[in-house]
Amino acid sequence: MRKLTITIDGPAGSGKSSVAQRVAQTLGYLYLDSGAMYRALALKALENNGLALSSHIELEDLAASTQIELKSTPPQLVAEGVKNQVLLDGVDVTQAIRTAEVAQAASQVATVAKVRELLVVQQQRAGAGGGIVMEGRDIGTVVFPSAELKIFLEASPEVRAERRWKEHEQKGEHLTLAQVVEEVHERDKRDRERKVSPLIRAKDAVLVDNTAMDVEETARLIVMLAREREKELAKSAGREA
Ligand code: CDP
Ligand code: CDP
Repeated sequence: MRKLTITIDGPAGSGKSSVAQRVAQTLGYLYLDSGAMYRALALKALENNGLALSSHIELEDLAASTQIELKSTPPQLVAEGVKNQVLLDGVDVTQAIRTAEVAQAASQVATVAKVRELLVVQQQRAGAGGGIVMEGRDIGTVVFPSAELKIFLEASPEVRAERRWKEHEQKGEHLTLAQVVEEVHERDKRDRERKVSPLIRAKDAVLVDNTAMDVEETARLIVMLAREREKELAKSAGREA
């Protein structure tokens, strides 16, 4: 059976990472968290005190001189909630990129067209062979516009913020729920309103609202859609042969 390219886009906390990872695991596909690349670059910008996050030129230079590598996560770390292992210039930053501060900075870095171009090329290279579930904001619209299955994942803003808040609590990052609601709202707004590759649903993406569904149920639904798509493609390949 031919392996698909599956894209999952959606706003913060909609469940992209957890669901994409589960789907990839079930189908035996690769999983790639494109947001981790924007987060890693943002972390470097934050650590580099002289670098204003608002300077597009400096961010472009930074992106061009930075190596970001995403690796599949060993099973024991998947159980602990680790998505991709992330290496920034060879240093493991898997945990360091998961703060609210880095998330905000990532959405600023992500507004720079040249930065996106550089990262998109790497994402396309990583998924070139198919058999991949890639998640982010522009995967179905820009990175893989001809993907065989596109999902746009949604959930209510309150539920998304609460999910994120719980994660921060579990990691000992104590924020009020109101702070997280504000962080998620600000980031969604920036992601939806930016000029380059804004967060929008691709016309041919299936909208899945998982406000009242858990990760397992959502993943099961997407796996079912993927199996149907695989069958359709096998059938049309058979007709062509
Ligand atoms: O990647 P994204 O920001 O879209 O979301 P995530 O990191 O996969 O999910 C954020 C949190 O919500 C995680 O702790 C998930 O386990 C949880 N979640 C959930 O409880 N129910 C869902 N249907 C989806 C995610
Ligand atoms: O996990 P969460 O949904 O909170 O965010 P993420 O997927 O880790 O992405 C962090 C930020 O990177 C987003 O708010 C976007 O601004 C940016 N991003 C993007 O612009 N394009 C992507 N394909 C992935 C992430």
